[in-house]
Amino acid sequence: DIETIHTVADLRARVRGWRAAGEHVALVPTMGALHAGHVALMEAARRHAERIVVSIFVNPTQFAPTEDLARYPRTLDADRQKAAAAGVAVAFVPDVTEMYPDGFATTISLAGPALGLETDFRPTHFAGVATVVAKLFSQVAPDVALFGEKDYQQLAVVTRMARDLDLPVEVIGVATVREPDGLALSSRNVYLAAEERRTAPMLFRALTDAAQAIRSGTPVAEAVEIAREKVRAAGFVLDYLDARHAATLAPVSGRHDGPIRLLVAARLGATRLIDNIPVG
Ligand code: PAJ
Repeated sequence: DIETIHTVADLRARVRGWRAAGEHVALVPTMGALHAGHVALMEAARRHAERIVVSIFVNPTQFAPTEDLARYPRTLDADRQKAAAAGVAVAFVPDVTEMYPDGFATTISLAGPALGLETDFRPTHFAGVATVVAKLFSQVAPDVALFGEKDYQQLAVVTRMARDLDLPVEVIGVATVREPDGLALSSRNVYLAAEERRTAPMLFRALTDAAQAIRSGTPVAEAVEIAREKVRAAGFVLDYLDARHAATLAPVSGRHDGPIRLLVAARLGATRLIDNIPVG
């Protein structure tokens, strides 16, 4: 069975033992409610390290007061089984006071890839993500850390942070795992009512159609506008759908040079879904 560790001190002691034996360490940060997307990160981790730590922590600082922190799905027993089956050595499951002791006062401040997109709708989100990820990097001191392309802006923010702060960890992105109909796996998909679930794959379809149109010569702005209309017509309330430079997430203006990424966030009823794909 998988070892479950609750404190930073116990975690550091375990990792120290692995290091003494010359083993490499991979970190897979999660908020639990694990699904095949998370498992893909663990499987990728196995190719980089003998030892894998999965953190399971529903991080309150990345949720706004209006968001779903209280009802975020919590399935620790099933999570531990999935992680064990994927070859994970340790589940790190700190409680909130272990991560944020009394008087906690430090937050990472971001620009660059954090600007726009998610930040226009969740202005404090990435500061919470970056701060908890920086803490996890410090606590585990992994050789590599794996993040899903599903949260593409998050991956860009964490990659930039590691580079800017000289954090000695290699950040690795893993391709999005999807349902057969194209819907990206997400812990929040369980909130979708049956009819919403049937509508949800339209998000991916609108992105793939737009990418195809751009590849065949349609101007980016035109393809993006058609995709926005498709998403709205399917019944979503659109937060954003945009084309960005894949590496920097800078806006694409006029002629495009270098790879482009299409990113979308939209709400179906009370559920907010995000997705993204490369154009190339
Ligand atoms: P969470 O939403 O649990 O996601 C954990 C990791 O799984 C993230 O890197 C995410 O991109 C990846 N993931 C989710 N769905 C995926 C899918 N369908 N295919 C591939 N990867 C997928 O993202 C977070 O947690 C938090 O913000 C965290 C980084 C843990 C910081 O609190």
